[in-house]
Order: sequence, then structure tokens, then C-alpha cells
Amino acid sequence: MNSRKNIFPFLIVCVLGALCYPSCKHEPFSDNMPDPTDTIPGDTTTTIDTPCSPDSVYFQNEILPMLVSNCTESGCHNAIDRQDGIILDSYTNIMATVEDITNLDWNENELMEALLENDVDERMPPLPNEPLTPAQINRIGQWITQGAKNNGCNEQSGSACDTVGLSYTNFVQPLMQAKCQGCHSGANPSGGINLSTYASAKSVAQSGKLVASVTRTSNWMPKNGQKLNQCTVNKIKAWVNAGAPQ
Ligand code: HEC
Repeated sequence: MNSRKNIFPFLIVCVLGALCYPSCKHEPFSDNMPDPTDTIPGDTTTTIDTPCSPDSVYFQNEILPMLVSNCTESGCHNAIDRQDGIILDSYTNIMATVEDITNLDWNENELMEALLENDVDERMPPLPNEPLTPAQINRIGQWITQGAKNNGCNEQSGSACDTVGLSYTNFVQPLMQAKCQGCHSGANPSGGINLSTYASAKSVAQSGKLVASVTRTSNWMPKNGQKLNQCTVNKIKAWVNAGAPQ
């Protein structure tokens, strides 16, 4: 409760900002982050060659994309708009701007408190956005419990990039949910692009915009996020070339 009271005006700004998004579309990108499977941003000397362990929650692979997709939309917690002084687009910015981010008491931890808030007018992400699911909030809580580290793992470690047999259900849907839907779903999706159903994702794919958006060298998607790694891009291309199967 405490420090969240005074952010209500910012919520309104945030909602209004989302509604008048075209006025914000010149918003520059925060950082040219390296490929997450190669290095940990802010620690460019560390190569991530660790295979993913099912027991760990990885900031770079899972938590950061979730926060970028759900919290850094126009008018919200990106490096330009920085609502309430909070920036959720990188490890460094999260550590620097979220109060008590390592606190294991969820009533004190500013991030967890905002996500778990029962009052819909104070909860994050604000209306009209959907709240994060209990499973997503739980993963963030686990990441904090495990030390809120800037960790990452190599999802392809030890195996070649497998681009065979990809479908919307087994590949595209989880990817969109993790990295794109926070902005590209709901009544007023960013750029008028909805990526939350098979039909709409397929039509974006077949227009050529999906591949273009994740492969260009500046202003790439996910907006405010790190470029998708080469294997993921190759998989998207393979899925589109196969006719975007469901
Ligand atoms: C933080 C919000 C945000 C996230 C996350 C995001 N987008 Fe976007 N996207 C936008 C906005 C805003 C636009 C409108 C154009 C612009 O401002 O760059 C857009 C436009 C697009 C477009 C259409 C025009 C273009 O730029 O090519 C496509 C396709 C797209 N996004 C795909 C994706 C995909 C795929 C992902 C996930 C990998 C993603 N977006 C993640 C905000 C986001």
C-alpha cells in the first residue's frame, strides 16, 4: 500500500498514453542489447553457455521478456516515459529503480506488491490491461527468491537449432505469449497488430511483417527488448515458409 498511493495519477497518464499511442511512436529504443544467448547485458564479458536447468528461473530468458512485454508499453515503464521513476527494460534499470526488488516480503517488494495488488485501480499492469497470471507472478517471485540474479541460459546448448515440425501451438504461441502479447493483444493492440490468436498471427506472418519486425537492425520487435536470437528467428522463418501451420 504505502508508496503505491501516490502513483495513481501516473496510472491515468499511462492509460491515456496507451490510448494516444500514435503521438508517442517516435519513441527511440532504449539500448542496443546483445543477443541474450551470447552475453549478459551489463556484463559483456560473460558468455552464456550454461544449459538451461529446470530448477532455475532465468532473468534474461524469461523474466525480462515478460516485464518488457507487459510493462514497457508507450507511456509506461520504458526508458523514455519512466512512469513513477520505474524502468523495467534491463537488469541494471530494474535494480536501480524498483524499490526493495530483492525483498522477500512481497508487501515490501515494490514489484511483487504491484503485481499482487487486489485493488484493480492500483494493480499493475493497470486497467484496461489484464493482470499477469498467477503462474507468471509466481515465476517472478521464484526468480527473486533465487537471488534476483542477472542470469541466463542457452536454450540450444548442446543441440543444433531444430526448425522441423514447428506449429503455432508448439512454438509460435508460447513465443508470442512470452515476448509480444503484452503489447499486441486486447482491444487496442500496439501498431494495430494482434498476435494473440492463431488467425491474426498467421495473417501478420503471411504479410511478411512478422519476419521483418524481428530481423531488422534497428527498431526491431520486441520493442524495448533484446533481439530474438538467431535460432528463434530461423524457427519463425521456417514456420512462415511452411505456411504458418496451426
Ligand atoms: C513494449 C511493447 C511491444 C512489444 C513487447 C512488442 N511490440 Fe511489436 N509493436 C509495438 C508498437 C508500439 C508497434 C507500432 C510501431 C512502433 O511503434 O514501432 C509495434 C509494431 C509491430 C508490428 C507491425 C509494424 C512493424 O513494426 O513491423 C509487428 C509485426 C510487430 N510489432 C511484431 C511484434 C512481435 C513479433 C513481438 C514479439 C517478438 C513484438 N512486436 C513485441 C510494441 C511492442
